[in-house]
Amino acid sequence: MAIYHSMLFRLTAVLLFVQYCQAKTVHLDFNVTWVNANPDGLHERKVVGINGQWPLPVIEVDKGDRLIVNMYNGLEDKETSIHWHGMFQNGTNNMDGPSMVTQCPVPPGASITYDFTIPQNGTYWYHCHTDSCYPDGYRQALIVHDDQSYFNDMYDHELTVTMSDWYHELIEDIPFIRVENPTGAEPVPDSFLFNDTLNTNIPVEAGKTYLMRLINIGAFVAQYFYIEDHTFRIVEIDGVYVDEQEADTLYIAVAQRYSILVTMKNSTDKNYPIVTVADSNLLDVILPSLQLNQTNWLEYNSNAAHPQAVMKVDASSDLVPYDDMKLVPHDRMPLLPDPDMTIEIDVIMDNLNDGAGYAFFNNISYTRPKVPTLYSVLTSGNYATNAAIYGEFTHPYILEHNAVIEVVLNNLDGGSHPFHLHGHNFQLVSRTPSYGPSFNDYADGDPLPFNATETPSSSFPKYPARRDTFVAPPQGNFVIRFVADNPGVWLFHCHIDWHMSQGLAMSFIEAPKQLQEQMSLTESDINICKAGNLSYKGNAAANTENLLDLTGQNKQLPWLPSGFTARGIVAMVFSCVSAFLGMAFITVYGISGIQPKETAVVTERDDS
Ligand SMILES: *[C@@H]1O[C@H](CO)[C@@H](O)[C@H](O)[C@H]1NC(C)=O
Ligand SMILES: *[C@@H]1O[C@H](CO)[C@@H](O)[C@H](O)[C@H]1NC(C)=O
Ligand SMILES: *[C@@H]1O[C@H](CO)[C@@H](O)[C@H](O)[C@H]1NC(C)=O
Ligand SMILES: *[C@@H]1O[C@H](CO)[C@@H](O)[C@H](O)[C@H]1NC(C)=O
Ligand SMILES: *[C@@H]1O[C@H](CO)[C@@H](O)[C@H](O)[C@H]1NC(C)=O
Ligand SMILES: *[C@@H]1O[C@H](CO)[C@@H](O)[C@H](O)[C@H]1NC(C)=O
Ligand SMILES: *[C@@H]1O[C@H](CO)[C@@H](O)[C@H](O)[C@H]1NC(C)=O
Ligand SMILES: *[C@@H]1O[C@H](CO)[C@@H](O)[C@H](O)[C@H]1NC(C)=O
Ligand SMILES: *[C@@H]1O[C@H](CO)[C@@H](O)[C@H](O)[C@H]1NC(C)=O
Repeated sequence: MAIYHSMLFRLTAVLLFVQYCQAKTVHLDFNVTWVNANPDGLHERKVVGINGQWPLPVIEVDKGDRLIVNMYNGLEDKETSIHWHGMFQNGTNNMDGPSMVTQCPVPPGASITYDFTIPQNGTYWYHCHTDSCYPDGYRQALIVHDDQSYFNDMYDHELTVTMSDWYHELIEDIPFIRVENPTGAEPVPDSFLFNDTLNTNIPVEAGKTYLMRLINIGAFVAQYFYIEDHTFRIVEIDGVYVDEQEADTLYIAVAQRYSILVTMKNSTDKNYPIVTVADSNLLDVILPSLQLNQTNWLEYNSNAAHPQAVMKVDASSDLVPYDDMKLVPHDRMPLLPDPDMTIEIDVIMDNLNDGAGYAFFNNISYTRPKVPTLYSVLTSGNYATNAAIYGEFTHPYILEHNAVIEVVLNNLDGGSHPFHLHGHNFQLVSRTPSYGPSFNDYADGDPLPFNATETPSSSFPKYPARRDTFVAPPQGNFVIRFVADNPGVWLFHCHIDWHMSQGLAMSFIEAPKQLQEQMSLTESDINICKAGNLSYKGNAAANTENLLDLTGQNKQLPWLPSGFTARGIVAMVFSCVSAFLGMAFITVYGISGIQPKETAVVTERDDS
């Protein structure tokens, strides 16, 4: 008996070992070059391709795998990097990808190797994180398969579908931050893609259940999603499994992901529109040629008709999406205790003294440092815990290891914003107003800051949903919590790429001492910086002698002279208005402190 038992034990040990060994290494070589593509059939343009291909390769790995991607920058005229959106990079902060945060940008002709293991599950994506390069096509799905998921046996087939906005011009050729656009009106996309194309069919088998992974890989516009005459069950958001919830409509902001189970009908006499509707509330100007709604099809029968979607509401905002706050994480992680640190953030849009529109967290518009912030941590010894060395304009907060962090975000802007935190998912603790008919109630008039008396922690969900990108309502607020258990420099930012370029970002410097113990600068990190003529050590100003001396740091522009309020600036002078933006003209109130080009008297723009 004893022998038998011990053999059984050994056999089990071997089996466990075999299972453990199944984790594999996925090794990819990415040669990044310009290629041509015409995904909407309206305009051919150059896009960022990988190994000569676009759409880019979907990366598929299994939970526990190690991913190694060798990227060569063959773009010739652009720096680049890759962010693995939603990956915690626990212990590998230097693999996160944002330029001047955790690495130097990779200049043309240089290479970088990303190498990390993936102990996560679910639906992610990868995209360029240097300047504004991902809307030029450098973005695609990253799927982590998991045969241990609770819904693994609940479906027959699996599909991945992306959606995105699409511009016909290179992002660098689209004028945006400039005096002619003082309100910061975002360039309006030329079309909306569904899986990098239009009018496509997804062939399905009657009676079968599909796991559909939906990812908004766009740069700006959120989209509503539904399938005519079908409901579905939400099982995952942003890599977090949730208890299945029946729903019929989703609101998918840029960077968000949903996995849904869709059970097909038994009859094959019809095809059904899969409908995506751009959130037109985000758009300042809608040209008649812009197709906001897209019909693609669940194709049960290729010989049957493919009807266009029947729109049942007057405006996209009349659609009522499932409220992600109501989802319950499958692991039942309870509400985190009262925070050790609360970070209050006011979001505003305003003008600096070049007259252009910028975006601010607490009056700071993120401005890239001269040294990647992670490298400042790694080369500053005991000063690493002093926020001052990272410079005021990276907007640094030092988070203590394992502290419970609460972020209270008051959106004082009339637009909604999808906020993303690197290195974590966070608990969705409160949001006012919620998704639904009231979501836009505060878009005009006075903003609604978070009020802890009216929304006490006793009203927070017991098992809050978690995700890595969460939408703040127009002039509303939200509260999120997470544990600072992942040493690293993590950006918190609006995922609308235009707003990112206007400075809507800040740096969380989490457990810097532990981070110094985990990693050090490598020869290859240094070589990438040198290839781009960038500094790799010292404080944000690249000062290595006196780390508290920030002389020479990059700064946001000065504010306009007092008297120029946000509204007053809308009134500022400017001359020609870009026909591309199609913006309305703006009234002249007066000028001081700026150099207007030419004066044009026009009507005031309703900035709602
Ligand atoms: C990348 O692709 C370009 C264009 O095909 C080619 O000229 C170049 O040699 C490739 N570089 C590498 C490192 O593979
Ligand atoms: C991954 O999935 C397992 C169940 O298969 C779950 O227990 C775990 O929390 C998930 N991990 C992450 C990081 O999502
Ligand atoms: C979406 O596009 C990707 C990349 O081209 C492809 O791998 C995937 O199969 C497509 N999804 C569907 C449902 O066709
Ligand atoms: C399809 O047929 C199966 C088996 O007869 C049945 O269980 C299921 O409810 C039907 N599905 C629908 C959507 O009617
Ligand atoms: C698109 O859908 C919206 C919302 O249902 C509707 O207001 C609009 O008229 C539709 N546009 C077109 C061109 O069908
Ligand atoms: C931003 O600046 C304005 C004007 O100086 C000031 O009233 C406000 O309190 C500042 N906000 C924050 C969060 O510091
Ligand atoms: C918060 O709400 C309470 C109760 O409604 C109210 O008395 C208080 O004035 C509010 N606080 C602020 C700062 O608005
Ligand atoms: C990172 O790893 C540490 C140590 O294993 C663990 O305690 C922590 O929960 C992890 N954090 C995240 C965000 O994965
Ligand atoms: C590198 O940077 C230094 C200091 O900013 C500057 O003097 C030099 O011209 C730069 N060299 C190149 C090749 O850009």
